Amino acid sequence: MSTFQAPKGTYDLLPPKSAKFLAVREAIAAPLKNSGYSYIETPGFENVELFSRGVGESTDIVSKEMYVFETRGGTKLALRPEGTASVLRAALEANLHKAGNLPVKLWYAGSYYRYERPQAGRYRHFSQVGAEAIGAEDPALDAEMIILADQAYRSLGLREFRILLNSLGDKECRPVYRDALQGFLRGLELDEETRRRIDINPLRVLDDKRAEVQKQLVGAPMLRDYLCDACKAYHEEVRELLTGAGVAFEDDEKLVRGLDYYTRTTFEFVHDGLGSQSAVGGGGRYDGLSEMIGGPALPSVGWALGVDRTVLALEAEGIELDLPSTTSVYAVPLGEEARRVLFGVVTELRKAGVAADFSYGGKGLKGAMKNANRSGARYTIVAGERDLAEGLVQLKDMESGEQTAIALAEVVAAVAARLA
Ligand code: HAM
Repeated sequence: MSTFQAPKGTYDLLPPKSAKFLAVREAIAAPLKNSGYSYIETPGFENVELFSRGVGESTDIVSKEMYVFETRGGTKLALRPEGTASVLRAALEANLHKAGNLPVKLWYAGSYYRYERPQAGRYRHFSQVGAEAIGAEDPALDAEMIILADQAYRSLGLREFRILLNSLGDKECRPVYRDALQGFLRGLELDEETRRRIDINPLRVLDDKRAEVQKQLVGAPMLRDYLCDACKAYHEEVRELLTGAGVAFEDDEKLVRGLDYYTRTTFEFVHDGLGSQSAVGGGGRYDGLSEMIGGPALPSVGWALGVDRTVLALEAEGIELDLPSTTSVYAVPLGEEARRVLFGVVTELRKAGVAADFSYGGKGLKGAMKNANRSGARYTIVAGERDLAEGLVQLKDMESGEQTAIALAEVVAAVAARLA
């Protein structure tokens, strides 16, 4: 029988790279934890209706990319393609918005699933860290979101990313624009599928990557010219707050995003070293989503950053994260008696908060020292029968090569002191 492989469009996260992944996740979460966001976790699957209503029937995510299945009990579920609808569903279900403290600020991290055509940076199973601020309409909140993502990327050392910013208007001005755009698009020479898109999601046509389509789009009505005064003022305030915070952005009036729930502020973080899958993160305001999924009016804003693509962006910029070695002390016993004694020492070290590991499997000195080296430990504790007979162990500093005999009874304290 042949061995199994990870399913198409997925990959395993293996050491040592997995450490980088964890560090990226933590770096993205850190500014959120520091800004009033609390952690939330929701199931990996939801009722399929949540996404078709929330993300939108007409989007690629819902119509082409969702993993839908029926349970034995006949319930139609979908693996979550994104986090916003789930987080809002959970907040509404638990009445978090009624606890009196708006906005409800939440952050999350997890796996998401989209049946996309796999390529570099595009997977069927990927990882996001996200943030949602639910129940407040305030340009400062939109600005906060963008500033925190910017801070997260800068803390990782990333420099070659850009922030694209746009406003999609609201329920007053967007329908007027939509009509105007549809009128314009219907006069163009377009293929069948794109024509269908004019009816269900005309703004997405502006996003078409094909040159022959883009050529025809010159002169299309632009949303900017249709924004109502309230949306214009709101957007201007977001822009000023970002500028005041020293966060550079580019106005991109063609930025539409692939999810239907957005209103007003939308933004994307793109990295220039990633080729075609350049969006490392994205988000925006979604003032109508709560009502779309059966809740009260709760204007909200959020983003999600892709962990996989952020790791690729680090690699593209040649950034090595400064990840401290996970093991500080490695114990190498020589013989049965030493094995028992040093196993006890390792347990004590761990209790004292020192990251320690042990040479398992009865290896000889040479093999065990090789493993000690590989572990990245700063110190190795070696002991044989003769050392133990004298109540000693040998403490080797792996950096200087210096070796010191230390009383067995004092080794835990001595190592802890040296590492402090
Ligand atoms: P999104 O733009 O669909 O937004 O996804 C956010 C990020 O997830 C992308 O920028 C990308 O880095 C990553 N991502 C998406 N699909 C894939 C894939 N197939 N492979 C690898 N990475 C991928 C959302 O998901 C919204 N829920 C963001 C949001 C939160 N809006 C408001 N609140």
